[in-house]
Amino acid sequence: MSIWVDEEQKIFHLQSKDTSYIMRVVKGRYLAHVYWGKKIHTPDVENAQLNRWISFGAAPDGSDKSYSLDYIRQEYPTGCQTDYRMPAVQAVFEDGSRAVELVYESYRILPGKPGLQGLPAAYVENEEEADTLEITLSDTLKHMKVILMYTVYKELDVITRSVKIRNESAERIRLEKAVSASVDFETSDYELLDLPGAWGRERHIEKTKLRSGIQELQSRRGASSHQMNPFFALAEPGAGEDRGKVYGFALVYSGNFTAGAEVDQIFQTRAWIGLNGYDFSWLLESGETFQTPEAVMVYSSEGFGKMSRTFHQLFRTRLVRGRYRDEVRPILANNWEATYFDFTEDRLVEIAAKAKECGVELFVLDDGWFGKRDNDFCALGDWVVNEDKIKGGLPALAERIHGLGLKFGLWVEPEMINEDSDLYREHPDWALKIPGRAMNRSRHQLNLDITRKEVRDHVMNQIFSVLDACKVDYVKWDMNRSVDNVFSAALPRECQGEVYHRYVLAVYEMMESLVQRYPDLLFEGCSGGGGRFEAGMLYYSPQIWCSDNTDAIDRLKIQYGTSFGYPISAMGSHVSVCPNHQSGRITPFETRGIVASAGTFGYELDLIKMSEEEKKIARGQILKYKEMEHLVQTGDYYRLVNPFENNNHVLWQFVSKDKKETVVCGVRLHSEANPHIYLFYPQGLDADMKYEDVVTGKVYTGAALMKAGLPLPLTTGDYQPIKFTFKAVER
Ligand code: GLA
Repeated sequence: MSIWVDEEQKIFHLQSKDTSYIMRVVKGRYLAHVYWGKKIHTPDVENAQLNRWISFGAAPDGSDKSYSLDYIRQEYPTGCQTDYRMPAVQAVFEDGSRAVELVYESYRILPGKPGLQGLPAAYVENEEEADTLEITLSDTLKHMKVILMYTVYKELDVITRSVKIRNESAERIRLEKAVSASVDFETSDYELLDLPGAWGRERHIEKTKLRSGIQELQSRRGASSHQMNPFFALAEPGAGEDRGKVYGFALVYSGNFTAGAEVDQIFQTRAWIGLNGYDFSWLLESGETFQTPEAVMVYSSEGFGKMSRTFHQLFRTRLVRGRYRDEVRPILANNWEATYFDFTEDRLVEIAAKAKECGVELFVLDDGWFGKRDNDFCALGDWVVNEDKIKGGLPALAERIHGLGLKFGLWVEPEMINEDSDLYREHPDWALKIPGRAMNRSRHQLNLDITRKEVRDHVMNQIFSVLDACKVDYVKWDMNRSVDNVFSAALPRECQGEVYHRYVLAVYEMMESLVQRYPDLLFEGCSGGGGRFEAGMLYYSPQIWCSDNTDAIDRLKIQYGTSFGYPISAMGSHVSVCPNHQSGRITPFETRGIVASAGTFGYELDLIKMSEEEKKIARGQILKYKEMEHLVQTGDYYRLVNPFENNNHVLWQFVSKDKKETVVCGVRLHSEANPHIYLFYPQGLDADMKYEDVVTGKVYTGAALMKAGLPLPLTTGDYQPIKFTFKAVER
């Protein structure tokens, strides 16, 4: 059992492999947070702040003035009852009052982990893997129940949290905020690491010391966004890749979120993650329940590296689903940067044939195959083939591609509509738009009002007809603008605050219908590159296009930042041409291959235009990738040298679970005349095992590699690739 309850003292102790998480009911009423950190065997932890006298603090019931909730660390604070810090939940009742007062009511323990209605969530394969604690808090005046769900994975240092809010009154309740997790820490002695960015520069790392007041990370763009990722970590000062206490938080959600930390007047910290209360409300009729998305919380006593490996393990084995969870992914060639909108079926087949010659396994036809889509001004919404470009239709093209011995994949963008489309001409009210206001367009397109069932059914049925007719093996689902013009013609006035969340629920329903109908399909997520790279999407698509920026050097930072929360097997990563289309930079072909092989590998260039020399290198690259693809899929990942720290080289490493194989890859950035010696230190090996460098044949013990290190090769020229492969040997 991983959940211990002291009935008398009302202490709840969650234990996973190396973690304890302890809560306790205090003053006979309030659910307080006691401890989260390295596993301890008794729940006997002092709750230091409990009886602290406060000046200018109020006592919640007037009769006992010795305490205030403003100081007590809480599990699900309401911002009322004398707690003036960030609330986890806010509601408005029929009489207009807004105070929510929650007291402990009951608990129960469930084996395994229940799913979340309509939302993505981590799962278990059998009930032995995890236990779930359900704690019910109640607002006894307003008859509102708040049910906190905690699942403890026994073999991973993971606790997931979500919340259900049930209206048990006869009246309506309007929910205005409900985060998934809120954790109060005893001190503010932490650094906050988060993943901000922009299009083409996703998930760069920022670290800041916590300071008094609120530091909030959020998206208000309707999607999780390029600009901020629903992931952050709090780390003790000095924590590094292999040392220090680190607490990671990720939200399994693809829409507006809030996350952050508030340092209070006595330097405690409240951290939270969940749905953004911005432009959000949810009407709960009598008897109805609201389910929040799920938060995943990871504790690591051994730095950021272990935190990331725990997220990777959970996400790739208990969040990603379907056939490609365990199967290595086909190497793909995508025609987007090769042709953009300008192609014919013969040109596509020619590119595919060259790709096949190089060893590619899947050909993906990107944007431009449908309606009158010759540019990005038109045709979104018209999911019928453009026979001017693809003579004979898609089934014939698919057959030719399959005939080459390749799988066939297709791009779609089901959430969008162009005004210049047959769909818009027929149903202008199917786009999100605000009555009387000019519409905001982005990439000349509008969001479909997929909160309406008839709209999502229409789009999905069109797409299903296409997929059924040509036996598609792969789908790339794109989303090329933020959600805007937020108003649904189908919802009453009092429900307009629900549009953002309903939009995300609709995306999930559409994606679920796709993965249920085509269990063998490989599904890749995308949003203008990596604008929706998060845990919510991973439940549907085992891989996500990491960024539209394919420049190998820019990708070093993007992929490094992404690896903090997300598995390497999820990162779509391709070799493209030089000068690079986004940055104009020129890098060696081999280097582009090394960087792209830290992800799901592919090509995004016109293979017809490749020189013989490049084709030869590509063939070699693919063979080499195939030798290490199982490490990308299931190996442990170590960040060795950080691209954000002005190093002249960047290094990362994969280690097989049995520690018998490891690959160190990287890039030396700038050439130096007569450079000094740079040593690198592989990690995660068995100290006593012997490892052979497969290129030089030299043999080293794991201890020697990890402690004494090896020198990087001397190279000339900028942006040179680095790769070492070591395999365990008997001698
Ligand atoms: C987005 C994607 C690209 C490509 C284009 C097509 O930008 O990220 O990979 O599919 O859309 O319009």
